Amino acid sequence: MTYIVNQNCIKCKLMDCVEVCPVDCFYEGDNMLAIKPDECIDCGVCEPECPINAIQPDTDQGTDDWVKINTKYSSLWPNITKKRTEDVPQDQEKWRDVKEKLKYLSEKPGKGD
Ligand code: SF4
Ligand code: F3S
Repeated sequence: MTYIVNQNCIKCKLMDCVEVCPVDCFYEGDNMLAIKPDECIDCGVCEPECPINAIQPDTDQGTDDWVKINTKYSSLWPNITKKRTEDVPQDQEKWRDVKEKLKYLSEKPGKGD
């Protein structure tokens, strides 16, 4: 089992989740984060930290594709353990309620720590 970041994160990337992870298994893309399933210990403490419900356990229905996406990008992107408030997207509020955001996912890496 693992937790995953879902498409709600795309273009919002609030980064409230990263500081609480006891094993530092968040990785940063240009416009979303990913959890590395091999490193996640399923503690669940990150889930309530995200104000837009972008973190779920993979036991939820419909998360299979997101396990694959998190696995792929967490191996390509740099580790992140600290929130950078200045890099939260300035227009994130208008993206919070947008559905089907996968087409906006950038494969580019973020800055990381
Ligand atoms: Fe980290 Fe725990 Fe969240 Fe997994 S469930 S990403 S170990 S905080
Ligand atoms: Fe994304 Fe939520 Fe974390 S928007 S960066 S999963 S706090």
